[in-house]
Parts: sequence; structure tokens; C-alpha cells
Amino acid sequence: MPTSLRDTLTRLPKVELHVHLEGTMLADTLSELARKNGVTPPAPLDEMYRYANLSGFLDVFWFVQSVLQTREDWAMLAYESVLQAASNGVIYREVFFTPARHLRSGMSLADIVAGVDDGMSAGERETGSETRMIYDIDRDFGPSVADEQLEMLLELRRRAAHGIDRVIGIGMDSTERGVDPSVFAPAYRAAKAAGLHRTGHQGEDSPAWAIEIALDVLGCERIDHGISVLEDAALVARLVDEQIPLTVCPTANVVINPDKCVSLDAHAYPAMRAAGLLATLNTDDPALVGLSLGAEYTNVANAYGYGLSTMVQIAHDGVTATWADDDDKRRMHAVIDEVSAELLHAG
Ligand code: HPA
Ligand code: ZN
Repeated sequence: MPTSLRDTLTRLPKVELHVHLEGTMLADTLSELARKNGVTPPAPLDEMYRYANLSGFLDVFWFVQSVLQTREDWAMLAYESVLQAASNGVIYREVFFTPARHLRSGMSLADIVAGVDDGMSAGERETGSETRMIYDIDRDFGPSVADEQLEMLLELRRRAAHGIDRVIGIGMDSTERGVDPSVFAPAYRAAKAAGLHRTGHQGEDSPAWAIEIALDVLGCERIDHGISVLEDAALVARLVDEQIPLTVCPTANVVINPDKCVSLDAHAYPAMRAAGLLATLNTDDPALVGLSLGAEYTNVANAYGYGLSTMVQIAHDGVTATWADDDDKRRMHAVIDEVSAELLHAG
């Protein structure tokens, strides 16, 4: 039977490396948790989910975070998030969570990590789609809060707390403009010393030099977004040479930051791929931008005229960019090869 491009690209096995757990919260779940926890949305959701720029988006993101108040709330979100991912052909994800606001208001990191693990374990048993977690520093709180809160994570590791093995790395998100990334060097050093992987949001709303600092001062192994890399030919050459992954989110950039990114046609993604960068494809905040990974693969294929073999290569590049071990990477590459051969045959 002929199948649509959307159906084919939804069934293509994929991984995702740039997605915020809080940004996967469906509108119905948001309404339910807001009601349960006595939080009033500032506007009807369809009005709230329209953004002028990154800072306007972050206000909404922070509101979404505010409805998560108990271990069970995090578990429900995490469980639903795995089910959505699995229904989009996602076989493995490394997902951000950003607990700074919750920790500031007194919630325990142990409860958050345990809740997320409860939900993800249930989702994995049901679907087979696997998830690891990335603890994101919220840059907006500044470096000393980052150090203090990261110490809570390291303490959970020393105690082998429930679910902590699922957290395999750190990142940082939130405001980029006007923030010198190097102030977070102590937190990144502590994470490295504890054996955690490192990434960071950079180059969505900051220039190429900030990407260089994230690599050279913070020791990031990947860069989240990274679109301003194209401003600096020497940096592009280095990232191509070292195959440092960029986790790019074209549709989310257009929806979240229309000031900077007016349309998919104007997005840097095809230029990044053409330059030989390991530019992976991701949704960022799918529920807040009306997106899924199957839809994002379809958007990109349509916008840039990419055929199925290019989309399969993008899926493989995602696997290459993961922090999974070599055996798991081989297994995921093999699953992509096997299913994409069937999809090519069916098409
Ligand atoms: N950028 C920065 N912080 C974020 C984002 C983003 O796209 N999504 C959620 N937090
Ligand atoms: Zn992001």
C-alpha cells in the first residue's frame, strides 16, 4: 500500500538528543496539573503558545514548569513523554530536565529524579523506547546557584539514589543573550570529574564565539542548536573535522524565535548539512511548538527537498551523536538499516 512521507518518516527508527521533558507536556496534562496544584495559566493556552522571541518563550516554559509540584507529577509527564516518543518511531532519547526553579522553591532533586525514573521505566516497559536524562543548568540563575544545585546531583550519585543512573550528562539552557558561558566552568569541571557527559545550548541566540567557549572552556562534547556556527568559517571547519555534533531544531527555532528565524526556508540547517557538520534533527519543545519528531523529519524533507536516503542518514547521524556505548550504537544503526530497507522497498 502506498504510504505518505509523514507515515514513512514517523516509522523510520530515530533518536532524539535535544528535547526538554517539560516541553513535551501536552496541553491536557498542563490543564490537569494546573487545576490540581492550584496554578492559574496567565492566558488561554492557544494564545500562550505564540512567541515573539526566546525570552517570551522562556516565560511560557517557566509557567509550564510551575505546574510540576510532586514526584507523581514528574512521573506522569515522563511516562506520557515516552509514549509520545515511541509513537513517533523514537527508539532512544537523551532528554533535558531543568530543575532550578523547583529546587529554589524547596522541591527535592531526589523526588524529581525518582519521579522521572518511575515514569520513564513504566513507559520503557510498555514501548521499548529508551530514555536517558540530561540535567540542565538554568543559566538565568547564575553560576553560584548552578554550582550549589549541581552539588545536589553529585550527592545523589554518591548515594546511588533511585533513578540517578538515568542521568548521564549535564547541559545548560535558558537565556543566552548577554551571558558569558565561561562563568559556568566550575560546574562543568565538577560534572566532568564525576564522569558525566557535557553539552550546552549555545548559538540559538548567541554568536559563534560563545560556541567556541562552550567547547574550549566548558569542555562540551556537543552543542545544542549551534546555528550561529556558520558565522565563523574556521569554527565550522573544526566542527566538521572533529565531527562535534550539533543538535538542531529548525521548526522550534522558527516558532520560538521568529525575530531571528523567519521561516524554515531561511533556516541554516541545509547549509549546516552541506558544510559537512554533524547536524542532527530534534524538536526541542514539541508540545509547546505543536510538533513531533515524525512531523519535524517531514518538515525538513519537504522544505529542503531531501529524499528518504538523506533522512535515513540524518537518523544515523543522530545515533552517532548519542552518548550510548558502542554496542548500543551498533544495535541502533542496525535497526535503522533494517527498517529503512523495508520502507525504501515499500515506497
Ligand atoms: N532555548 C533555551 N532554553 C530552553 C529552550 C530553548 O530552546 N527550550 C527550553 N528551554
Ligand atoms: Zn532546547
